[in-house]
Amino acid sequence: MSLEELKQEIKKRRTFAIISHPDAGKTTLTEKLLLYGGAIHLAGSIKSRKTQRHAVSDWMEIEKQRGISVTSSVLQFDYAGCRINILDTPGHQDFSEDTYRTLMAVDSAVMVLDAAKGVEAQTKKLFKVCKQRHIPIFTFVNKLDRYGKAPIDLMDELENVLGIRSYPMNWPVGSDGRYQGVYDRQKKQVELFSADTTHGQKARQSVTMRIDDPALRDALDADTYQALLDDIDLLDAAGESFDLERVAHGDLTPMFFGSAMTNFGVQNFLEEYLRLAPAPTARLSSDGMIAPEDEQFSAFVFKIQANMNPAHRDRLAFIRICSGKFERNMSVYHAKSDKLIKLSQPQQFLAQDRQIIDTAWPGDIVGLFDPGVFGIGDTLCTPSHKFQYEDFPVFPPEKFARVQAKDTMKRKQFVKGIEQLTQEGAIQLFQQAGAGMESYIVGTVGTLQFEVLEYRLKNEYNVDIELVMQPFEVARWLAFPDGRAVTPASLRGTDRGMFVYDRHENPVLLVNNEWALGWITDNNPTLELYHVPPDKKEV
Ligand code: G4P
Repeated sequence: MSLEELKQEIKKRRTFAIISHPDAGKTTLTEKLLLYGGAIHLAGSIKSRKTQRHAVSDWMEIEKQRGISVTSSVLQFDYAGCRINILDTPGHQDFSEDTYRTLMAVDSAVMVLDAAKGVEAQTKKLFKVCKQRHIPIFTFVNKLDRYGKAPIDLMDELENVLGIRSYPMNWPVGSDGRYQGVYDRQKKQVELFSADTTHGQKARQSVTMRIDDPALRDALDADTYQALLDDIDLLDAAGESFDLERVAHGDLTPMFFGSAMTNFGVQNFLEEYLRLAPAPTARLSSDGMIAPEDEQFSAFVFKIQANMNPAHRDRLAFIRICSGKFERNMSVYHAKSDKLIKLSQPQQFLAQDRQIIDTAWPGDIVGLFDPGVFGIGDTLCTPSHKFQYEDFPVFPPEKFARVQAKDTMKRKQFVKGIEQLTQEGAIQLFQQAGAGMESYIVGTVGTLQFEVLEYRLKNEYNVDIELVMQPFEVARWLAFPDGRAVTPASLRGTDRGMFVYDRHENPVLLVNNEWALGWITDNNPTLELYHVPPDKKEV
């Protein structure tokens, strides 16, 4: 590999995630990007959305039928000289931790808003994560084919609700619900779309005209044309100026208007996005910033997923490549285990299939067969240059259940399944102090995780579980300032909660609410309480 080749490959890469509130159109937009990218030929083939909102088992079956991954898939395709990696994030809020990890692996994010609904609850949460990480955010205002909020009001909403200024890259032409096209502010031209007769299955026909083209005046009625000119003047005079540096820092969001369903504005969005979105950049490590052009290979694990293919009991660790060139069968240093590991059978995900790959570059996502050594956040690097990327912060658990196998003869499979899901980061495992080994206390960030737990243990490990929800909502890791061991006997007033140990034998107290916590701190004034385990940072 020459340095020149490495630089060329990096320059081509765009690795991003699409974030949105459920139903805003993330799946539809993803599909349309694949359609324009030539990775699929007819939209509508990714999944049937109708069934998506039903029982969790349906949902998981559907995700599986997509042949990619149950919680977050990685799609790769080429367009206009760029290599695009889209990391899909689960829309349901109970998977916010999963989404968070995915966002650790991207270089930018696309935020999809429903034009009628504007900024919604889940968008706000995901936006906050992007903002914390200073990820550049591009906004796609979707569903412009029907009535929605006025573009100018949506700009205000971004500023007032999310605290980010926006720069409209294009502007809808026509009136609410009956937009005829978009005006491209850079090129100063209008793209008028012909009526969509295929329900967005195929790329949409359009004609492009300069704003001062007399043919445009003829194509639009006089009021529409005048309103467009007025809007353009207003934006130019009173709006933000475009500043790519502020975009790169996540302080200004380029805003696009369109309709993923009818392909209105999608191609324009894709092209402008690829032009402006950053290629992979340097990342912080224990040895300072590591540039992608560093010829020594490095990567980190951001997701672990077992049993994606029911035919093989495989376990994949997804890595994001940060520097150097990845080569099949290369040996890398794994800091956590202090071992050299050979990376054989690496997989990549092209539109709907996975395939074995030989090489990959910074920005790419590769699935590695995991013999059980990898953990989320682990760094892989070249043996001659050992370092670690920043550890992943964790979410404090908020829901708890006691879980045991219905059939005690199946304890072995039960433990195996529970351990697996813990390593994937889907659940956190606790053991009640003084209780027997037959049951666990499982902590999660949302209740849907328990349905997933039940479903996966049954389908992948053939174990039926008994699950009893516990009334706790708060977990606190405990320590005394003098280093004395915290035990149930060393505390006062803990009968209002449950004393448990985490997987690393750290003492943890589970209580109903913050009020109950106050009672504990009043009774144990020297006790120190933490939201997450002592060796972790909180999100
Ligand atoms: P999500 O992944 O963000 O949850 O959203 P998804 O793409 O599944 O879209 C949610 C619903 O919104 C779907 O309707 C989809 O067709 C619709 N939708 C997406 N983009 C547009 C758009 O540009 N305009 C309009 N009018 N609708 C859009 P559905 O009824 O749930 O499913 P389906 O019957 O269309 O498959």
